[in-house]
Amino acid sequence: SSCCSYGDQQKVKAQWNSLWNTPDSSTSKIIFGKEVFARFFEVDPESKSLFGRVKVEDPDSPEFAGHVIRVLTGLDLIINLMGDDAMDAELAHLNTQHLAREGITGTHFTEMFKVLDGSLRQVLEEYDSLSWRYCFRGLGAALRDGL
Ligand code: HEM
Repeated sequence: SSCCSYGDQQKVKAQWNSLWNTPDSSTSKIIFGKEVFARFFEVDPESKSLFGRVKVEDPDSPEFAGHVIRVLTGLDLIINLMGDDAMDAELAHLNTQHLAREGITGTHFTEMFKVLDGSLRQVLEEYDSLSWRYCFRGLGAALRDGL
């Protein structure tokens, strides 16, 4: 599926990779990821109950760090696959993983992408809101399909 224009994809990839795939990025991945989840839990405190297995009650635990890294690595994969035939397969796989877990809703995904937008806007110098909005809209729709 096409999620946003080629130009949007290029901007989003470049901006994302300047954060996530740059050796000297000043932002730590774990710190960024935990910040995203902390904000998500402020918006939706009840959703914490879904993350007991990964020790959400102890956000400094290696289990929780591993969780936030798995999620953001999933996001990294789909962002960098935009425009490639393989993107749909990865989106479908992530969608299936979330469908399989009780209690996850489409609203959770809407909230999460809003939080990501807010967090990325803070750390990226030339945040291109419109491109991110278009790309996140497409990715989000596929991830929350059926939820
Ligand atoms: C697990 C990606 C949003 C709930 C995971 C995993 C990945 C992932 C890669 C690990 C799958 C595994 O190893 O089995 C993403 C991405 C998201 C996203 C890319 C959007 C940017 C959400 C949202 C919720 C959610 C909005 C609902 C609140 C969960 C839960 C788990 C999980 C409950 C299982 C935790 C565990 O290991 O026990 N997610 N996720 N995810 N995700 Fe998401």
